[in-house]
Amino acid sequence: MTERLAADPAGISRGAFLLGSGRLVAFGTETVYGLGADATDADAVAAIFAAKRRPRHNPLIVHVPDAEAAFRETEASPLARRLAEAFWPGPLTLVLPRRRDGRACALAAAGLPTLAVRVPAGVAALALLREPGRPIAAPSANPSGRISPSTAAHVLAGLDGRIAAVLDCGACAIGLESTVLELADDGARLLRPGGVTREAIERVTGPLLPPRQAGSAVNAPGQLASHYAPVLPLRLDAETCAADEALLAFGPVRAAPRLVWNLSPDGDLCEAAARLFAGLRHLDEEGGRLGLSGIAAMPIPGHGVGLAIRDRLGRAAAPRPAAVFAA
Ligand code: TXA
Ligand code: MG
Repeated sequence: MTERLAADPAGISRGAFLLGSGRLVAFGTETVYGLGADATDADAVAAIFAAKRRPRHNPLIVHVPDAEAAFRETEASPLARRLAEAFWPGPLTLVLPRRRDGRACALAAAGLPTLAVRVPAGVAALALLREPGRPIAAPSANPSGRISPSTAAHVLAGLDGRIAAVLDCGACAIGLESTVLELADDGARLLRPGGVTREAIERVTGPLLPPRQAGSAVNAPGQLASHYAPVLPLRLDAETCAADEALLAFGPVRAAPRLVWNLSPDGDLCEAAARLFAGLRHLDEEGGRLGLSGIAAMPIPGHGVGLAIRDRLGRAAAPRPAAVFAA
């Protein structure tokens, strides 16, 4: 059985004890819930891949309580230190060269010479990371290919019985994942848009490097086209909503569809990000129950955190392999 822990000192201590014993503990961050395991323990990290049914070539983010702990695992350039200063704790993940004397096991990095590190915001998450005194590997706490969880109930919907515990930290404030930024000798490259906007990053880094060509060597190995998959097909940038479609709305809605989830009636992108994954889950479940044939998503502007929302919707709409449904 999966233990449900309150985010109080007793719950945090229990969670830290379980992590230190090589068990899997999900916990809330400001972005989404992560599925944590001791990053120094290869068996515990292997258990993450098994519980999520995640392909082992897809590396994990190592979570630490402060920048110094991050730079004990990775080689810090001056730019990395400036970014850490500007955005940690917070929704930015840095992909840096992995240190030979780092403690995270090679499996956490899927054997790559780089390692993704992040200092999450959130009082309970930081307290949980401080107690075991070792880095914690934590991908999003969903079965691979499914919608990321932004509440403890979402975690249990996908992983109940497959993990030791979930620390209930309430609903995640940002609601979609961190921005993943790779730092190379020639500059910084965005691997995944997320909670820190591209505009805010470029104020520190200057113009970002162009994305690598599709099909080039390892880029963001986890950036599979199909991800965040609802069961109902998703239609993007929809100007109309058919009678048998649910509507994922943004801004004012004139029609009266049978089923609607408004990401933000006022057109606020931060509110929309926070309500995105819960909305996709709701429309998918209710739409299926009502016998609807799909979800129509209204256009979302591509600036600010809208870039990350559009990225996630694009992945949710992408054709997916049959294996995703088996997960
Ligand atoms: O907000 C978040 O980042 C959440 C919370 C729990 O912190 N975590 C999360 O982890 O979204 P995950 O595993 O679902 O996504 C991590 C992404 C994947 O696309 C993975 O491929 C990429 O980061 N990544 C991790 N290590 C990498 C590396 N060394 N090089 C390139 N990409 C990497
Ligand atoms: Mg994920």
